[in-house]
Amino acid sequence: MNRQALIIDCDPGVDDAVALMLAFGASELDLLAVTTVGGNVPQVKTTRNARMLRQIADREDVPVHAGADRPLRRKPAGAGEFHGAEGLGFMAPFAPAKGVADGHGVDALINAVNAREPGTVALAVLGPMTNLALALRREPMLAKRLGPVAVMGGARREGGNITASAEFNVWADPEAADEVMRSGLPVTLFGLDATHQVRATDARIAAVADLRTPMADTAAAMMRFSQQVEREIVGGDAPPVHDLCPVAWLLRPDLFDLAPCRIQVETASELTRGHTAVEFRAGVAGSQPHRWAVSADANGVFDLIMDKTR
Ligand code: BDR
Ligand code: CA
Repeated sequence: MNRQALIIDCDPGVDDAVALMLAFGASELDLLAVTTVGGNVPQVKTTRNARMLRQIADREDVPVHAGADRPLRRKPAGAGEFHGAEGLGFMAPFAPAKGVADGHGVDALINAVNAREPGTVALAVLGPMTNLALALRREPMLAKRLGPVAVMGGARREGGNITASAEFNVWADPEAADEVMRSGLPVTLFGLDATHQVRATDARIAAVADLRTPMADTAAAMMRFSQQVEREIVGGDAPPVHDLCPVAWLLRPDLFDLAPCRIQVETASELTRGHTAVEFRAGVAGSQPHRWAVSADANGVFDLIMDKTR
């Protein structure tokens, strides 16, 4: 089987954790590295969490590299209320047996892409785009050398989830998102318009939990925590599992509808900081290499997580 080489850049985070379980379990993927960034919780914790999740999945063959510990210009924010103080919801932290790999996450990303044929290494970004922006600053040719780049970030039709206008990952480091969107890199963005369609209903969480494997138990526990938060803070019952979408798309592109567009990021205004302006009009947006996910087949995405964590 010709496996898709992939790097996952993330800030686990309960939904990052579900996405990592999917990737760790998918034999179609050649997971070259996990790189971490400060986001939902500080980078020290996202790095430890990625190592914990790797151990649970029995995937210690995959190196975890620590990446940026702060946004390009803003103060580090956090989303502990959605992920728990330690970032993994109900899961108590433990000291993972295997350590952090040598080398900064940004260097690991650049080196892995440069070591392979152009267009062959995919990247899924599940947190603020700080590491990708730093990598593009240092190595602008990455815009041509990377394979498919799938990012969880942004909001259009749905409005924001951290402010009225903005989605958390883009809001947390808007300058990084802006640099990435201006870099010429073809990016497919999975914003809230698509991720709000991929919701962990009671039935879906129970079906995953019923698999009774360490990976499925972990994914189900993360979704249960999100469900509690959804009930307490948002007033809903079935939380979106945002970060599943980019990884699911790399495995099953047919589960998503994409539209070509040009995406610009607001950085000047405090009111609309991190707003993603998604331009679909061909005459205006024609030359931009961006795509926006407009819809997702949630049943298909959950079938995938069931299949890969069993
Ligand atoms: C994004 O923000 C984070 O809190 C989640 O992990 C996800 O990546 C959703 O807005
Ligand atoms: Ca995330």
